[in-house]
Amino acid sequence: MTASKPALYREIAEQLAALLAGEPDFIANAANMAALLYHGLPDLNWAGFYFRREAELVLGPFQGKPACVRIPIGQGVCGAAAARGATVLVPDVHDFPGHIACDPVSRSELVVPLLPALAGMAGEILGVLDLDSPLLARFDEIDREGCERLVALFVDHHHRYPE
Ligand code: SME
Repeated sequence: MTASKPALYREIAEQLAALLAGEPDFIANAANMAALLYHGLPDLNWAGFYFRREAELVLGPFQGKPACVRIPIGQGVCGAAAARGATVLVPDVHDFPGHIACDPVSRSELVVPLLPALAGMAGEILGVLDLDSPLLARFDEIDREGCERLVALFVDHHHRYPE
C-alpha cells in the first residue's frame, strides 16, 4: 500500500475535482468529499468535517459513527489544528493530551485545517477535516501531503464558486 499511496491520492484528487465541478453548494460538496475519503482511503473509522462557528467547531458532514457535535477551539486534536492553523498528525491518540474520544476505537488521527492559505488565499479558517483510524500510526507524511492537497482543492473551489 505504501508504494501506491501517492497514486491513490492523485486518483482521489481527480475524483474530488469531478465531484466538485459545477457545484457551488458547500454542504453538498463537503458531504461528497467525506464519503469519497471514507470509502477511498483504507482503514478509516471516521472521515468528516467540523466547521468554525465563532470559538467552537461544530460537526459537519461525515461518514462513520455519530460524533461529538461541538468542540471548543483549542481542545482535542481538531481544536488544536484549528487553533494552530496547521495540520495535526497524531500516531497514537492515547499520547495526545486532551484527545476527545468520540469513538474509543480510534487510535490515530489526521486533522487538516480548512485554511484559505492552503489554496494560496487570504482569509480565516473555515473549519477542519478530521480523519480517524482504528490502527496505530495509520497516517504518515504522504497522507498529510495528500490530504492537504485535497483540502486545498476544496477550499479553492469554494473561493472561486461561492454559494
Ligand atoms: N477525536 C477528535 C474529536 C472528533 S471525533 O473523533 C470525530 C478530537 O480529539 O479532536
